[in-house]
Amino acid sequence: MMESNRLQAQNVGILAMEIYFPSTYVSQSELETFDGIPEGKYTKGLGQTNMACVGDREDIVSMALNSVTLLMSKNNVPYTKIGRMEVGTETIIDKSKSIKTHLMSLFQEHGNTSIEGIDTFNACYGGTSALFNSVQWMESSYWDGRYALVITGDIAVYAKGPARPTGGAGVVAILVGPNAPLVMEQGLRGTHMENVYDFYKPDGKSEYPYVDGKLSIECYFRALDICYANYKAAFERKHNTPFSMDNVDYSVLHSPFGRLVQKSFGRMYFNDYVLAGGPADPNHRMKSHFQEFDSIGLGKESYANPKLEQAVLKISEQDYNSKVAPASTLPKELGNCYSGSVYAGILSLLTNVEQLDNKRILIFSYGSGLAASFFSFRGNGAAQNPDFPSTTNIGKIANITQRLADRTKITPEEFTKKLQYREDNCTKSAYTPADTTDGIAAGHYYLDRVDDKLIRHYSKK
Ligand code: ACO
Repeated sequence: MMESNRLQAQNVGILAMEIYFPSTYVSQSELETFDGIPEGKYTKGLGQTNMACVGDREDIVSMALNSVTLLMSKNNVPYTKIGRMEVGTETIIDKSKSIKTHLMSLFQEHGNTSIEGIDTFNACYGGTSALFNSVQWMESSYWDGRYALVITGDIAVYAKGPARPTGGAGVVAILVGPNAPLVMEQGLRGTHMENVYDFYKPDGKSEYPYVDGKLSIECYFRALDICYANYKAAFERKHNTPFSMDNVDYSVLHSPFGRLVQKSFGRMYFNDYVLAGGPADPNHRMKSHFQEFDSIGLGKESYANPKLEQAVLKISEQDYNSKVAPASTLPKELGNCYSGSVYAGILSLLTNVEQLDNKRILIFSYGSGLAASFFSFRGNGAAQNPDFPSTTNIGKIANITQRLADRTKITPEEFTKKLQYREDNCTKSAYTPADTTDGIAAGHYYLDRVDDKLIRHYSKK
């Protein structure tokens, strides 16, 4: 028998976005001096400005509670209107109990316990999997007409050493719904997953990852190449026309640090050259830029190749400034918030670019280990949704420029002390956090204590 009265969601995508980030940050240039390394390494070499930091008064649950409440209150969304909620994070605090169950306390108060979805993790990719699941739920026969929420982000902390300046913190909340001002383009995805140990967290007693930095960059480039080819194939199947960077208006890439994003964006032009048969074509329009790399193509020798890096940076410089830099505000100011990084980039873009109607935004999400995808959004000026009228409105409500300016800068010594609190206390039972609550803004949640059964108690300031 044919189904009847099936709800059909059209133009599913992002209706609203929020981010919760800590009120304190450390300056990357002050960190260079403190760490006694040459001036410019973190700021120019890694391309970072500041880094968000938290002590032991905040954890992934308190930050997620804050991001949900910010999104719901600033956008006037009733808690009863959410039918799915998924959390994407790698800041795991319990091997069984999900972060999602903590967030349910906000919905229980409103009598809404009928909410599907749970946590999903793989390094920085959990939020993307959560978003894909939410969009697919809405486009399926199981959709009941309500919105979905994706909560994604992390507290990224590293042991003392070269990786420490690539930390950060932030949790993004995304409201997914139909007739959205930013629509996920149907059928356009390019995914690559493989088994590799570039970054992993096998030690339950420490928050710090084991990381092979150079390998992680090589893996990022390889995943980018394969996902790009897969996305291109999907695009060409769907539209029956060749795909290249000419079809992209803006691009947002997972941002461990800004310089990697700039190099990776440039690498997409080298991909266009290679995938279009440039090495064998003497008349290819990018021949003069890339011919000296014809013999290496996208192979292993292309990953840590300073000459190729210079060539891709040069060819993409202008486009980087107009198509990618507007997405770099939060990633450069907060640092890497892992699962939330690419979504912090999207929110930055919505803040900095007024008009996205009919523009294609190409997204690259990468999580070590590894899982990666290219996918895309299209600005939908025709959404005419009175509650969520435009992408510009999303940026205005989130108001990140002012909120970043309102933060408090702390010294590298204070930053190191905050990390030490986390290191000392992250697995303790029956303890009250050592850090003060001074940096917690009124109305925000924080970790009050952990009791002798390791139950975590939160308070609202
Ligand atoms: N002025 C300007 N630039 C400088 C200076 C200086 N004084 N000194 C160094 N640099 C440049 C270097 O040339 C290099 O740039 P290049 O790669 O374009 O040549 C850059 O600064 C970094 O210097 P390195 O010596 O390569 O840095 P190091 O090995 O100390 O660490 C790394 C960098 C590997 C990124 C480390 O911070 C790390 O392991 N981070 C965590 C892993 C990571 O983020 N991986 C990315 C994908 S996975 C994920 O998202 C977690």
